[in-house]
Amino acid sequence: MAVTKVGVVGYGYWGPNLARNFYELPSAELVAVADAKPERLKQAQGKYTQLIAKTDYRELFKLDLDAVVVATPPATHYQIAKECLEHNLHVLVEKPITLKSVDALELVELAAARGLTLMVGHTFEYNAAVHALKKYIDSGELGEIYYLDTARLNLGLFQRDSNVMWDLAPHDISILLYLLGKRPISVSAQGMACVFDGIYDVAYVNLVFPGNISAFVHVSWLDPCKVRRITVVGSKKMAVYNDVESENKIKIYDKGVNSHEYTNGSFGEFQCSYHSGDITIPSIRFTEPLREECQHFIESIVNQTEPSSDGRDGLEVVKILETAQHSMSNGQTHQAISW
Ligand SMILES: NC(=O)c1ccc[n+]([C@@H]2O[C@H](COP(=O)([O-])OP(=O)(O)OC[C@H]3O[C@@H](n4cnc5c(N)ncnc54)[C@H](O)[C@@H]3O)[C@@H](O)[C@H]2O)c1
Repeated sequence: MAVTKVGVVGYGYWGPNLARNFYELPSAELVAVADAKPERLKQAQGKYTQLIAKTDYRELFKLDLDAVVVATPPATHYQIAKECLEHNLHVLVEKPITLKSVDALELVELAAARGLTLMVGHTFEYNAAVHALKKYIDSGELGEIYYLDTARLNLGLFQRDSNVMWDLAPHDISILLYLLGKRPISVSAQGMACVFDGIYDVAYVNLVFPGNISAFVHVSWLDPCKVRRITVVGSKKMAVYNDVESENKIKIYDKGVNSHEYTNGSFGEFQCSYHSGDITIPSIRFTEPLREECQHFIESIVNQTEPSSDGRDGLEVVKILETAQHSMSNGQTHQAISW
């Protein structure tokens, strides 16, 4: 069977993980890496001896590749992905797909016009724990979903040309879209720039979904603890996905509150009954989500099928971030998202 020849653009922090996975996949061949910094190329060639290494990613267009993976800083995604598509290459772009929704839409349309695969690296959509969480929501076991809360906090890594929301919230927003299977109606956001002027390092984002489901996304580069947590609160049960745990990442709490209204004389009073039952820890068979993502990219190319996290998914996340950014800069009011 023919293998898919892949080039990786950007070999900084995340690019090496993508390169390793494509190198290891039997259905792919890691042919080349491009990075503007020669020292990064030296690192790559030290690891993969046959690798072609270029400082200018345009050199990759001469190599008879099938696909390119873009793992450069977000501000460069649009230009690099566009040129790759124009050279008839299938493209996997890291998150966020672009910094502007008009640019993301252009990439989606360009890929569609040329019959090419355009996929965005929403890695958590390939995570077995997130899949399990979705099953709990969809089966109705948690009851009616009241709200979701996500927290992605740590000390660093500060980025110069981004803010914490654009850096970290794409993960949580893509997870929320996947879990709920619908798009939010409106968003508001509040940010703080504690360390560098004008660069938000802490942000709180509130999304309102149809059915009056609220989701609260807290992202921070300025927290003493590493937190990667998603809480889903339903009328029957509550679920917590804690990605920092090495085992038992998901716990289902049979906990909840029932309100009983009754009349006592002329006063209407409320009473609650709390229930606190067992904690269930489902057994989840883990594989590396990034490997699943890379494999899915290759399969989408070979089978000519739309990837789960396609360009439109990337576009939706950018639209939400754009609207949230607008809210952040304009008094944190709720803004309708124009779909
Ligand atoms: N899916 C995930 O879980 C995940 C995790 C981390 C980062 N990311 C994403 O990966 C991307 C890269 O992030 P990073 O943390 O690796 O950044 P980084 O700054 O560590 O690395 C980026 C690399 O790109 C190179 N580069 C920049 N412009 C270039 C150009 N025009 N041509 C060639 N090379 C160029 C730089 O020299 C650098 O080595 C970002 O979009 C980020 O959001 C995704």
